[in-house]
Amino acid sequence: DEMRLEENFDAHIDAGDFIEAKDWMPDHYRKTLVRQISQHAHSEIVGMLPEGNWISRAPTLKRKAILLAKVQDEGGHGLYLYAAAETLGTSRDQMFDALHSGKAKYSSIFNYPTLTWADIGTIGWLVDGAAIMNQVPICRCSYAPYARAMIRICREESFHQRQGYEALLTMMTKGTDAQKAMVQDAVNRWWWPSIMMFGPPDDQSPNSAQSMRWGIKRFSNDDLRQKFIDAAVEQARILGVTLPDPDLKWNEERQAHDHGPIDWSEFWRVIGGDGPCNRERLNARVKAWEDGAWVRDAALAHARKQTNLKEA
Ligand code: ACO
Repeated sequence: DEMRLEENFDAHIDAGDFIEAKDWMPDHYRKTLVRQISQHAHSEIVGMLPEGNWISRAPTLKRKAILLAKVQDEGGHGLYLYAAAETLGTSRDQMFDALHSGKAKYSSIFNYPTLTWADIGTIGWLVDGAAIMNQVPICRCSYAPYARAMIRICREESFHQRQGYEALLTMMTKGTDAQKAMVQDAVNRWWWPSIMMFGPPDDQSPNSAQSMRWGIKRFSNDDLRQKFIDAAVEQARILGVTLPDPDLKWNEERQAHDHGPIDWSEFWRVIGGDGPCNRERLNARVKAWEDGAWVRDAALAHARKQTNLKEA
């Protein structure tokens, strides 16, 4: 019986049909989705921290308003994604516990520090740019609640990417020499971590084959990384910054850019918990959760009172 169900499921996937929350699905499909969606949700929530750092130090009222809106959007993305994971039978408390106890993964990129204002523009350009490249295909993910959540997220990410690029362009075209140097320094620090966001090389990516088979992933890690690099080269040229890779050059035969070796030992170290800011991020997240306990308690007490009043 189970086998028939699985054959039927595979046929739906092959036909390009979407799977809904109440449809039968193999256990491993459910687990894979919970793993990816919850990691994705945690990334949005932890991703608020490096930028939140700069809200009180944004250079103008306009930049501050934009940054506030962007960080709020990320909170919203985390909530849609937690809701999508809940449709698979995982509770939010379980996901929060996994994050706060350090068991859950979130994107490697958020373990790097934001040292100057130019880092905020660079995160918009490179980090959100990489996020869009990876996330647009997820709008066609076979699991419909995840795919639906991604549509709005991608629209907002695209605004995030543009505001970052525009902030850098302003500094590069109207800024002082010191500001231009600040942009170049930020790009030097964020380039390699940004291209690591796409995950390990295809031959070291244990989940890729099955996720591609199920239509959870539509492109491989290396294919998306390549598309991102090709787009970034042109954007860097317009901006007037150098990407910190001396081996980056156009390959006429492949119609793509070759790049230098990526330091995968750094990547594994960061996702293993030993990046520059892992402890700081997790502590900030746990502190926010604990400091907010009274709000959750008060909201629950209020809700209980309202129900009692109605019943009385
Ligand atoms: N940061 C942290 N962990 C990573 C990263 C990364 N950049 N890339 C891969 N990993 C982890 C995987 O989660 C997996 O760990 P697990 O098996 O313990 O769960 C392991 O490394 C091996 O990688 P893959 O087999 O390639 O894993 P997967 O097929 O899940 O591909 C990817 C990884 C591409 C990140 C995929 O999960 C994905 O597309 N996720 C949705 C997008 C997302 O999470 N974006 C978050 C950052 S963007 C933002 O929030 C602004």
